[in-house]
Amino acid sequence: MRTIAVLNPKGGCGKTTVATSLASALAWEGHAVTLGDLDPQQSATDWLGLRPEDYPAIVGVSAHDGPLRAPVDTDILILDCPAGIAGQALGNVVRRADTLLVPVLPSPVDMRAGWRFLNHLIELKPVRERHVTVGLIANRVRPHTIIYRELTGFLDGFRLPVVGQLRDSMNYVRAFERGLAVSDLPQYLAWQDWEEWEQILSWLRSPRSMGKR
Ligand SMILES: Nc1ncnc2c1ncn2[C@@H]1O[C@H](COP(=O)(O)OP(=O)(O)OP(=O)(O)O)[C@@H](O)[C@H]1O
Ligand SMILES: [Mg+2]
Repeated sequence: MRTIAVLNPKGGCGKTTVATSLASALAWEGHAVTLGDLDPQQSATDWLGLRPEDYPAIVGVSAHDGPLRAPVDTDILILDCPAGIAGQALGNVVRRADTLLVPVLPSPVDMRAGWRFLNHLIELKPVRERHVTVGLIANRVRPHTIIYRELTGFLDGFRLPVVGQLRDSMNYVRAFERGLAVSDLPQYLAWQDWEEWEQILSWLRSPRSMGKR
């Protein structure tokens, strides 16, 4: 089983959007996907509750107040982490995961908070020793804006790869409220989002994204 955790202590940067979108994309590829919800807000669990049965199945496990146990036949476990994650909870996730995905928004407040968090993250032992790899995702991107250029400059300043960017699109909002993600939408609506996800999926398929175990 491979574990991919989506985390950033900053609230509202797109963790649940990325976790649910990734779960759907990997389920379409035929993997047995478990979505682990570590957030007491339970947004990922609520999303799964809305998911129609005729879309690729995703198993939900909710564990905000105890240990998370995924079914044994899980291929890929995706962890949706809560805002404010720090200390022991952060340590547990970083030790458990093979890959960390960190969405960052193009906003001055988010970049400032991201700076502190990423500097802390790269000092944690499993990251330093490359037992877990980290990929940054620029989320809610509007290209050709000044703030976009600032975000890419900011993210490039870390020795962590930017593995993808997701455009700011109502597709995410509309799909989410139906228990769907952009991979579940028709191609004519979501082809741009599919292309962006393909870049992230291709990084996740590459050995570069796998931690040394
Ligand atoms: N690429 C995007 N395009 C448009 N809207 C987006 C995008 N990514 C996230 N959103 C919206 O931003 C809001 C916050 O996203 P989300 O809930 O995924 O963040 P979060 O990091 O999980 O928040 P929390 O810290 O509260 O758990 C939601 O309304 C979501 O639909
Ligand atoms: Mg969330």
